[in-house]
Amino acid sequence: MRWIDELPDRARELLPPPVTEYFGQGAAAGMSTAEAAAAWDALRLRPRVLRDVSTVSTATTVLGQPVDTPVLVAPTTLQRLAHDEGESATARGAASAGSLLEVSTNAGTRFEVLGRQGAPWWVQAYIVRDRGFSVEVLKRAKAAGAGAVVLTVDTPEVGHKLQAGDSVWDLVTGDQLQANLDTDGLPDGALDKARDLTFADIGWLRETVGLPVVVKGVLRGDDARECVAAGAAAVQVSNHGGRQLDGAVSTARALPEIVRALDGTGAEVYVDGGLRRGSHILAALALGATAVFVGRPVLWALTVDGADGVRRLLADLTGELRHAMTLAGAASLDDLAPDLVA
Ligand code: FNR
Repeated sequence: MRWIDELPDRARELLPPPVTEYFGQGAAAGMSTAEAAAAWDALRLRPRVLRDVSTVSTATTVLGQPVDTPVLVAPTTLQRLAHDEGESATARGAASAGSLLEVSTNAGTRFEVLGRQGAPWWVQAYIVRDRGFSVEVLKRAKAAGAGAVVLTVDTPEVGHKLQAGDSVWDLVTGDQLQANLDTDGLPDGALDKARDLTFADIGWLRETVGLPVVVKGVLRGDDARECVAAGAAAVQVSNHGGRQLDGAVSTARALPEIVRALDGTGAEVYVDGGLRRGSHILAALALGATAVFVGRPVLWALTVDGADGVRRLLADLTGELRHAMTLAGAASLDDLAPDLVA
């Protein structure tokens, strides 16, 4: 059995039930969560033959940052419930796999600590009602080494989730959730999510923080174009692992429309959601993604074996990608094009 397929059960044995539930759950009826991987499974490939694949490279760049693999780490909260070292261990695992990580606004590890783990990283942003507060947090992340801001735009409020057992929030201490949010002196409501974000805030964020902006949570071509026109350097196609609007289209289906819409703009496209195999990743890259991001499997791998687990997960997926590239006749990621997908 593949190690990645064993991970959910192995993590379940180690985690309190509310944490297992929180990591796995989707919003509402869980439809979008349930179909994410299936939508990648449903794609069929048109491999090329008689191409020289004596050396196959998975190296690429994202916003100019060199990485050995296009398999990168999506931002997730509560990593310190998975493992004592939380985001620090994730960062070390990513570093040894030659990967990059996105770090949640709600991380349980201080940015300054994260920045010392050797991995390139981007800071994910939820903009709160007190925008000045958000900007200060992001500037601290920049000073600690963050190379981009990942603005999550699918969460004007948190998606409703059905809860079967006890609440995970009873297990969480403030520093495990918001190690980077110094709330002293803030009035009530200042940390509520800003619900009045618009495209104009992309340029505002880029100028005030001074980092390139990746917009995460885009599922439509017209939105993607507006993001880039407003100053986004990249768009991350995502339905938040099915945790926001249930019934939202799978990212495997949304990706081609967004790649088409951004053709010729020079903006990069990333995708996350349900990517669990080398063949899924091959299809995503062929359809025009520069890189893919993985969420829940990282949490499970972190639970099972800390930094080593994260390294192994990323290495295994990269190994599967390399194998799939070899069998599809692609010696480098530049050889992948939409005609690889039937
Ligand atoms: C998330 N995700 C998320 N996204 C974000 O922008 N900020 C966040 O703090 C979180 N937190 C979070 C917690 C947990 C437990 C999960 C499972 C997910 C969404 C995440 O970045 C990503 O979009 C999906 O998880 C990708 O789908 P897969 O790989 O989990 O199928």
